[in-house]
Amino acid sequence: MTARILVLHGPNLNLLGTREPGVYGSATLADIDARLEAEAAARGIELRILQSNHEGALIDAIHAARGWADAILINPGALTHYSYALRDALAAVSLPCVEVHLSNIHAREAFRHTSVIAPVCRGQIAGFGPQSYVLGLLALAGE
Ligand code: DQA
Repeated sequence: MTARILVLHGPNLNLLGTREPGVYGSATLADIDARLEAEAAARGIELRILQSNHEGALIDAIHAARGWADAILINPGALTHYSYALRDALAAVSLPCVEVHLSNIHAREAFRHTSVIAPVCRGQIAGFGPQSYVLGLLALAGE
């Protein structure tokens, strides 16, 4: 049973709402977090949510999740495409992880087509805007 989920938002996601709205939409990170909190509360799931623009802070949070979290929901932002350190951290804690993206990274620039994170995740959900996060939460909840 998945009772505790660590939610991680990577670099630049704090700017959602004003950041390239044609690509990422108008929802703010606070909107997304509120939606996740509501979906989680309805299922008795506890969330810890962190956004950071710093790779090391995200890695520290993944390490700290050991012993608390049952699973990790992560939008690694651009770190998706090149951060072996983030990938290794997820592999090291071996918690079930789902990678999510607001945009369909496979329909965008070529450098976004690669995820070095996806191979250490249960799966990847991309292209559904804020709903990507909700779908990721439901996947981790086993729904
Ligand atoms: C993103 C896609 C990444 O390529 C980009 O660097 C982001 C956001 C998304 O949610 O669509 O920062 O992860």
